[in-house]
Amino acid sequence: MADKYIIQGKRALKGEVQISGSKNAALGIIAAAMVVDGPSVIENLPQIQDIKVLLEICQELGAEIDWINGNTIRLDPTTINTHQAISEKVSKIRGSYYLLGSFLGKFRKVSLLMPGGCDFGARPIDLHIKGFQALGGGNMSDENGVISIEANQLKGAGVFLDTVSVGATINIMLAAVKAEGVTVINNAAKEPHIVDVANFLNTMGADIRGAGTDVIKITGRPVLEANRSYTIIPDQIEAGTYMIMAAITHGDLTCTNLIPKHMEPLTAKLIEMGAMVQEGDDSIRVALLPNDHLKAVSFKTMPYPGFPTDLQPQTTTLLTAAQGTGRMIESVWENRFQYIEQLQAMGANIVTSGKLAVVQGSPLKGATVFARDLRAGAAMVTAGLAAEGETTVTNVYAIQRGYENFIEKLQAVGADIKVG
Ligand code: EPZ
Repeated sequence: MADKYIIQGKRALKGEVQISGSKNAALGIIAAAMVVDGPSVIENLPQIQDIKVLLEICQELGAEIDWINGNTIRLDPTTINTHQAISEKVSKIRGSYYLLGSFLGKFRKVSLLMPGGCDFGARPIDLHIKGFQALGGGNMSDENGVISIEANQLKGAGVFLDTVSVGATINIMLAAVKAEGVTVINNAAKEPHIVDVANFLNTMGADIRGAGTDVIKITGRPVLEANRSYTIIPDQIEAGTYMIMAAITHGDLTCTNLIPKHMEPLTAKLIEMGAMVQEGDDSIRVALLPNDHLKAVSFKTMPYPGFPTDLQPQTTTLLTAAQGTGRMIESVWENRFQYIEQLQAMGANIVTSGKLAVVQGSPLKGATVFARDLRAGAAMVTAGLAAEGETTVTNVYAIQRGYENFIEKLQAVGADIKVG
């Protein structure tokens, strides 16, 4: 597998990019399909490493997976033969944590090796556990990195999340669809992928109301019906990454197959920075003329509908191309600025202090940089596209975890990027 990308910068990206299915929705939906009482068909599944790994875990647990075409699977969980997801693969990705809720709902017991994922400081799962406990999950243990939970009875309950958490909201929803009675999640996350997981489950006969608001009400059902199909929503973060790349290269790019509403936090900021943004029904065009300049602005990452933290590294990179001093406040993760030293190696003028990065616009120069996680890796490629000269991005496995056909899509719109 390719280990590095080599980019010749300063090529304007022009043309059309088709956005793939949402990674973070797909992870939740695959885990949700494991709770259904028979096979279901999942369409618009992105072919990326995180999904590949989660599907391999599902197969190891006994589920049958058939590929109907390149982006559609049929997942049959009736052949699952264990409630213990403890293979090494589980610790390779974050999304495996959804098997906690899924198996607690399905079997009333689950063991899971601690999940992995991108490293940006502490990534606790205390809120997930608190939710499971409220539903009756007891006999909790944490030995050798394996979390085990058992519930004699799984009963609907009220759960309040102290912090808005995407993972906890989906995980509690996954357990609650099979609990007896009504669960109410208060201060729930509202991300588009929460709504997508709820829509998948409702298509299979679950009763989930309020997904997309901060109060979600789930009435448990003993059986979730099989033999239904569901299409995953487009990836908000993939789309945002290409929109940012269009602006930073002074290009003219139309991203198709996306939901413009999901892009509003970024669209508003790109317009404020001086880019031309044109919305269609399911597309967005972003353009910047060769002699136009971007204005520096301030950003603060927030849970949806705020500005997404998963676009923070790419946007901080965009600020290096703006005139003036821009600010980025990271308010979701405690330590998501570790990639900035890589941008500094490319000549970026950025000073960080805790959760604040102050970016003074200045030209980037090609260098060899490291993809330290998925979105940081996308930011390195974004920087390479804008930089003078050649940029080599190493450890690109991190990028392949979340971007389908990344190189092919970029090459098709004029990027000079190749696998090294
Ligand atoms: C999801 O992570 C995404 N991952 C992340 O995207 C994304 O950055 C994040 O949501 C925020 O949008 C997946 O969907 C697989 P959280 P998750 O629980 O669910 C604190 C990407 O690049 N918290 O919403 O793990 C936590 O420390 C990935 O695609 C607790 O305190 O994030 C953080 O500060 C990276 N206790 C905040 O909540 C908990 O039990 C939000 O985390 C859980 C979370």
